[in-house]
Amino acid sequence: MNPLKRLGRRRASVLALLALGALVTPGAATAAPDAPDGVRASTLGAQAAQSGRYFGTAVAAGRLGDGTYTGILGREFNSVTPENEMKWDATERSRGQFTFGAADQIVNGATSRGQRVRGHTLVWHSQLPDWVKGIRDANTLRGVMNNHITTVMNRYKGRIHSWDVVNEAFADGGSGQMRGSVFRDVLGTGFVEQAFRTARAADPAAKLCYNDYNIENWNDAKTQGVYRMVRDFKARGVPIDCVGLQSHFGAGGPPGSFQTTLSNFAALGVDVQITELDIAQAPPNAYANTVRSCMNVARCTGITVWGIRDSDSWRSGENPLLFDRNGNKKPAYQATLTTMGGTAAAQRPDTRSARSAAALPSSFRWNSSGSLISPKPDATHRIAGIKDPSVVYHNGKYHVFASTASSSGYNLVYLNFSDWSQANSATHHYLDRTAIGTGYRAAPQVFYYAPQRLWYLVYQTGNASYSTNPDISNPNGWSAPRNFYSSMPDIIKQNIGNGFWVDMWVICDSANCYLFSSDDNGHLYRSQTTVGQFPNGFTNTVIAAQDSKYAMFEASNVYKVQGSNQYLLLVEAIASDGRRYFRSWTSNSLAGSWSPLAASEGNPFAKSNNVAFPAGTWTRDISHGEMIRAGNDQTLTIPACKLQYLYQGKDPNAGGDYNSLPWRLGLLTQTNSTC
Ligand code: XIL
Repeated sequence: MNPLKRLGRRRASVLALLALGALVTPGAATAAPDAPDGVRASTLGAQAAQSGRYFGTAVAAGRLGDGTYTGILGREFNSVTPENEMKWDATERSRGQFTFGAADQIVNGATSRGQRVRGHTLVWHSQLPDWVKGIRDANTLRGVMNNHITTVMNRYKGRIHSWDVVNEAFADGGSGQMRGSVFRDVLGTGFVEQAFRTARAADPAAKLCYNDYNIENWNDAKTQGVYRMVRDFKARGVPIDCVGLQSHFGAGGPPGSFQTTLSNFAALGVDVQITELDIAQAPPNAYANTVRSCMNVARCTGITVWGIRDSDSWRSGENPLLFDRNGNKKPAYQATLTTMGGTAAAQRPDTRSARSAAALPSSFRWNSSGSLISPKPDATHRIAGIKDPSVVYHNGKYHVFASTASSSGYNLVYLNFSDWSQANSATHHYLDRTAIGTGYRAAPQVFYYAPQRLWYLVYQTGNASYSTNPDISNPNGWSAPRNFYSSMPDIIKQNIGNGFWVDMWVICDSANCYLFSSDDNGHLYRSQTTVGQFPNGFTNTVIAAQDSKYAMFEASNVYKVQGSNQYLLLVEAIASDGRRYFRSWTSNSLAGSWSPLAASEGNPFAKSNNVAFPAGTWTRDISHGEMIRAGNDQTLTIPACKLQYLYQGKDPNAGGDYNSLPWRLGLLTQTNSTC
């Protein structure tokens, strides 16, 4: 396809619409009031997310076939910890022979549900095979330990938010010293430092935790011993990011000093996490006190309970968990949820889809930022507009890919920054200088393909193309373009009319990957391959949705809504005033049919009439962009609450050559989130 021809035609249609729009009075923007205070959710994970925390559970691979179990797992939790499946005796039973089947099952399941994963655990004296316990030579043991850490962490690189690098290294009782173990006895107490250094090198993105029990009471010698070690690590620059307090409590719940302990560790400059919570007999007050202590400490970033139902617990005789044997919520559940600020919704066992349908509202209101990112022309890049952004948050930074537009055509640019206030000062890396090359490349989409541990950049070149990169932050790491299709699928040739084949978009569930694209002629296409075959094998191209040309124009996004069964489709349309806006649909399957959510000019997903501009109205177009996601992988999971959308807009008075329009990027933040 000739991009100039394409662009000329697109411009012509826009100008025609603008002329048409002169007859229509554009609706005035309505001011969008802020969301009511005290936004409340009705599940543990969604409520924890309100304060930026996670609420997780230990998961046993052997229970994933139990529908009651997985029902609660998918509904309530946004983080999971494999209960036994990542331990040494499960992953390296014989020296150098690694088995990951059960751990993979848990991690892949969590990924497909949009849940994050805690890694547990790399170096521990327990559940340790005899062949390791029998090693007496320090060099051998050091090599074995480093290899174990590196191999297991590499396997799940980029998919684990926090790793318990060393578990339970300290002794109970009054010594405050490390306990005897093959690691301490053969390598000395320095084995902990060695393990953390190796772990940092293996997966620099994961938070590295020291995890232990009986360190919740501030004055206990064991707590003090761990505290001294963490303080020493921080002072000497040994990599450590968090302390996990297991919190296996008796019926009395946490000690009175629990919050003090959390704050004192946090004051060393580490996060704290409650990693294995269970309380004998699950008294509601004991749970409330534990949860409140975490909520009161800013660096307490999440809570994990050690199992779902009492019958799943390693302490099942003590009924220590939040759900009874039948999967009903116990009083401790309500106490936990309300202590985090959530509402105790009545239990309705069969309302999973009803709940998920309720996860997104049926109308949206937004506040827009001003223009946050402008083009940065240089001597060889006379750029007029920056467009079509794709964004992921990874390793403490937003990574933005976008099209650059100029009178001579399109290419791609990459920038990163840690905060939106720094977006406009970020360096622009022009990707035509990389193996991606010069020529027509536009409308990028970026995601991490976890099964291959590779970043993918999908973009249009006339075909649907992609490049890969092991390191998203390295602009020079992208491979040369490759195509998903040998040529345009027949069904597109038959329906494209005078349109153009644009805006390719990949999303996967746990079994399949789908490639969506638009034709500027009212059709959304979908092709399919398996997760194993991706990026090859896209066939079965079908029309996934259709409408009139301008009602379903281009720039589609498809997302998984976190903690629900729901997928969200956004498609850019051209309104009766000639301005761009977004319509939305939902489906419970990526290959399913799409039902309108907010899909009209009167009730749009995002349009000038439901976006307020507290910083000044700099655009009347809400055009091609991308949601801020909850994760970065191929499931394209977005939060259900407080959505944010990075979009392109432009000076309403600008006109002339379509390629030279002054597109800028701005950020929408939802103001009517009800969860
Ligand atoms: C427990 C599991 O829950 C049991 O299934 C297994 O038999 C033994 O280990 N501290 C930890 C966890 O760090 O890994 C332990 O999990 C509980 C105590």
